[in-house]
Amino acid sequence: MYTPAITGTGVFTPDEVITNAELVEAFNAYADRMNAANAAPIAAGEMEPMQHSSDAFIVKASGIERRHVMNKSGILDPEVMHPLLRQRSDDEPGIMAEMALDAANKALEQAGRSPEDIDLVICAASNMERAYPAIAIEIQSLLGIKGFAFDMNVACSSATFGIQAAADMIRSGSVRAALVVNPEICSGHLEWRDRDCHFIFGDVATATVIERIEDAKGPHFEILSTRCATQFSNNIRNNNGFLRRSRPDGMKDRRDMQFMQNGRKVFKEVVPMVSHHIADHMTAEGLEGAALKRMWLHQANKTMNDLIGKKVLGREPAPEEQPNILQEYANTSSAGSIIAFSQNSDDLAEGDLGLICSFGAGYSVGSVLLRRHL
Ligand code: COA
Repeated sequence: MYTPAITGTGVFTPDEVITNAELVEAFNAYADRMNAANAAPIAAGEMEPMQHSSDAFIVKASGIERRHVMNKSGILDPEVMHPLLRQRSDDEPGIMAEMALDAANKALEQAGRSPEDIDLVICAASNMERAYPAIAIEIQSLLGIKGFAFDMNVACSSATFGIQAAADMIRSGSVRAALVVNPEICSGHLEWRDRDCHFIFGDVATATVIERIEDAKGPHFEILSTRCATQFSNNIRNNNGFLRRSRPDGMKDRRDMQFMQNGRKVFKEVVPMVSHHIADHMTAEGLEGAALKRMWLHQANKTMNDLIGKKVLGREPAPEEQPNILQEYANTSSAGSIIAFSQNSDDLAEGDLGLICSFGAGYSVGSVLLRRHL
């Protein structure tokens, strides 16, 4: 058996940014238009008027201040309210592959690796822009990587489940070095017309290089162990899919074809699930939560992370022990914990322990226990 290690990470950040103030202005303009268009049924009490959104609520409820997106103009146009992406021909790289490529090249550079050193690509994300061929195989081809590639989707936990899959293959010897990429165009499935969730997501791509520890060329993180768990829940759901046109009203502009969640329930159910998951993972390793120098948690909600951190460490975590990036990126689904890791891990000392943990729809939760080596 070989020991796997993370030797490089990379983040692709879209140039376009939407602040809460811009988002709220567009949403409120949309709400006013809808209320004007439906003035009669609203006056007759047959319909509820749309309520305005507020920057203060968004920051207080989530900790999110802005988000990066692949297209801002469509999202902020009250007549559109979703991103507008150009049509690409089948002969040019798809948008997910393009985003992933940027992150992958950064991760390879940090690892001191070139594509010919890699023999597995996993594209692990919440949504794939098409059914087939796999986005991962397109990325493999664009980079000139030999070996094999496949897509996987475990919603917000995709990155950690992908890291576990790659790490297990490296352990067993079936692959020598792997690239796990997480291109997340969350703006595509977010319902920008629903004030309960319109502020939640942003777009980003992350990439992680995992290889045998003896092959590491620079500072790296030994993967001590991984742990994944799932438990079915309808509290985060999206009904879009390939059977859509087969169903009687499947092609209608239906709310359930975009991201839906019962945020309060998710909050209440996922915090204990994740806290116990991390505690069990640490116990299985003969360690206490307090042994962790850093936690890179899924980036959905600041208060949620504060509570999980407190339960795991047994005290209030200092901000640097549990870095948040959601104020800048919002929730970027599976990529969030990897952005936090990529941007806040260089300073750890030899032997320090850290844990990446993602969680979300499914429900799903995945944790990766790491030890720093310089
Ligand atoms: N602006 C102003 N008010 C808003 C609003 C907005 N954009 N959105 C909702 N509100 C209102 C609600 O209508 C509600 O009003 P009421 O009390 O009169 O009914 C009130 O604010 C509270 O709404 P609620 O949805 O209960 O807020 P919350 O404190 O639970 O925060 C989330 C909402 C989504 C930020 C929070 O529940 C959360 O982050 N949950 C976890 C989500 C998660 O991890 N998901 C994983 C996704 S991958």
